[in-house]
Amino acid sequence: MNRPRRILVTSALPYANGPIHIGHLVEYIQTDIWTRFQRQRGHECYYVCADDAHGTAIMLRAKNEGISSEQLIERVMNEHQEDFATFGIHFDHYYSTHSPENRKFSEGIYLALKDRGHIGKRRIEQAYDAKEEMFLPDRFIKGECPKCGTVDQYGDNCEACGATYSPTDLKNPVSTISGTTPITRSTTQIYFKVIDFEQPLRDWMATAGLQPQARNKLSEWLDGGLRDWDISRDAPYFGFAIPGEEDKFFYVWLDAPIGYMASFDHYCQSKDLHFDDFWSPDTTTELYHFIGKDILNFHGLFWPAMLHGAGYRMPTSLCVHGFLTVNGQKMSKSRGTFIMANTFSKHLSPQYLRYYFAAKLNHHIEDLDLNFADFKQRVNSDLVGKVVNIASRCAGFINKRFDGRLATQLQEPQRYQSFVATADEIAACYEKRDFNRAMRKIMALADQANQYVDARKPWEAAKLPDHDADLHETCTMGLNFFLALMTWLTPVVPELSEKTTKLFNIDSLTTTPSWDRCQYPLLGQQIKPFKHFIKRIETHQIDAIIEDSTQSLNKNTMSPSQTSTTIRTSPAPATDREYIGIDDFSKVDLRVAKIVNACTVEGADKLLQLTLDIGTETRQVFAGIKSAYEVESLVGRMTVMVANLAPRTMRFGVSEGMLLAAGPGGSEIFLLSPDDGAKPGMRVK
Ligand code: 2FM
Ligand code: ZN
Repeated sequence: MNRPRRILVTSALPYANGPIHIGHLVEYIQTDIWTRFQRQRGHECYYVCADDAHGTAIMLRAKNEGISSEQLIERVMNEHQEDFATFGIHFDHYYSTHSPENRKFSEGIYLALKDRGHIGKRRIEQAYDAKEEMFLPDRFIKGECPKCGTVDQYGDNCEACGATYSPTDLKNPVSTISGTTPITRSTTQIYFKVIDFEQPLRDWMATAGLQPQARNKLSEWLDGGLRDWDISRDAPYFGFAIPGEEDKFFYVWLDAPIGYMASFDHYCQSKDLHFDDFWSPDTTTELYHFIGKDILNFHGLFWPAMLHGAGYRMPTSLCVHGFLTVNGQKMSKSRGTFIMANTFSKHLSPQYLRYYFAAKLNHHIEDLDLNFADFKQRVNSDLVGKVVNIASRCAGFINKRFDGRLATQLQEPQRYQSFVATADEIAACYEKRDFNRAMRKIMALADQANQYVDARKPWEAAKLPDHDADLHETCTMGLNFFLALMTWLTPVVPELSEKTTKLFNIDSLTTTPSWDRCQYPLLGQQIKPFKHFIKRIETHQIDAIIEDSTQSLNKNTMSPSQTSTTIRTSPAPATDREYIGIDDFSKVDLRVAKIVNACTVEGADKLLQLTLDIGTETRQVFAGIKSAYEVESLVGRMTVMVANLAPRTMRFGVSEGMLLAAGPGGSEIFLLSPDDGAKPGMRVK
């Protein structure tokens, strides 16, 4: 084995305002596999994480629930930890960013940056909700695009024409928190001069071994010029107060990555470990952050700049992954594919998901698809049909015929040695995070092991006189193949690995430097009876997961909105609602429409161009539903549209009406669909 390395690893911190879902799990499973692998190789590897507990969204969520922010983050953190434990995610320490250590490091880093002249201040104008008495983050303001007039656009950019602007430019803006019109108020903004670190960032990028896509993106941002980063938020805000300032708090994204340090620092306090060994600028230890592609700017620009500026080491590298799709589409509540971790584990063993993700993950920043048919087939064929099958075919004979004791010599030692010589190749795949290649190699070896057993037909040898030695050695060979395979699968399926160690009466493979143990076959060992390891996945279990995930949506009340792009983070209070009379309502001509064509719109991230048949004519409508629907799934579908909305000229063409949809946005936009029997053009009353 190579020289032991000292490695600190993190995964992105989940927000403390919602449950863990299978999309999150891609990253935690990926990181957990990698860290387990490093430990198995005998390296000193620590994996820390924490709940990301600050920010406006968490503060408002707690308020909506009628509890304090502290109560909310404590409850959610417990739920997160339960889910992680269920999925076998082993953190050396799991903490919260709302911790004394995090306050200490956040203040320390800020003050060090300030002392060195990297912090500035200026007056700016910001949108303010006078009713709620708070400044409004961009995503809590909606209004009409100042350029093209499209309604219901977020405070920072227009999804219809692509314009970017400041929330104060929106026409008829509305606070999505109170439903009132925001006013403009001036405030002092504290910012971090990231530009001061352009050269250190370029130097870091050149040596950090980043994935090409990540390096290109970061270069693009650096070449485009770094802008000052606003690190302050005004009260009320759930976070840490900025030292020396009145009613100013650190923006959640300042103290979130510092949470990595805080979590590790807390861990060091209870162990014989020195924080500085991992964070001082001249350290030879390694630091890796596993993250999703959406938060590359924070980890590839602001975070290394902050670390460098405050006198800490920069990360060794970033390990960036893509997003999860399910059955080829974005996770969707309506399709029952927005699956919570605890819904999955209610019906299926988390080991299955760990294996499937491993079989799909590589080191590229690519989206990863969980296709349920493929998932079932892959797990059943590989884990059950190939790997565990070897043990179930051989262990019975050892127990029944040889008092549970393995033979004292191998049938074909040469063959065994060449089998386990693959260990280094498999390790190289794990090291590079090419887990899919590692799984392919392991399964190819499992095929070889099965062929070996097939060729020697122990079930026939068992019936023949004088074939005992043969039978004994074949099964010992088979079980040693199985043990080697399970050693290499240990980072992926630790629970099955534990069962394996029990079967063989040996020490755990999960924590010791156990990678190379299979170089020495297990001979003459007393083993335990083979008990069932793992069952095949049945279709009804997958159906139950989808069913449960669809049901949990139905428990939420959706309020229909007048456009398919409306996103309300919290519904306006009933008392603020403006009513319209029946006369106003009857002016709205609602028609059943058949979608006869759907296509994407070049240059528009969120829009689809639809051709709608309303019986007497067809209409072209641009609808912001791209995040929730694939074009193919829309053609032929019935929905409801406002047929007498004045045509609007958009950058992409004229929109001749509006679709009706409901839901919070993103992948959860649900087109209203009339019952069977509705015909294009029918009036909706
Ligand atoms: O995007 C997110 O979910 C953030 N909570 C991740 C924070 S990672 C780190 F910087 F703390
Ligand atoms: Zn616009």
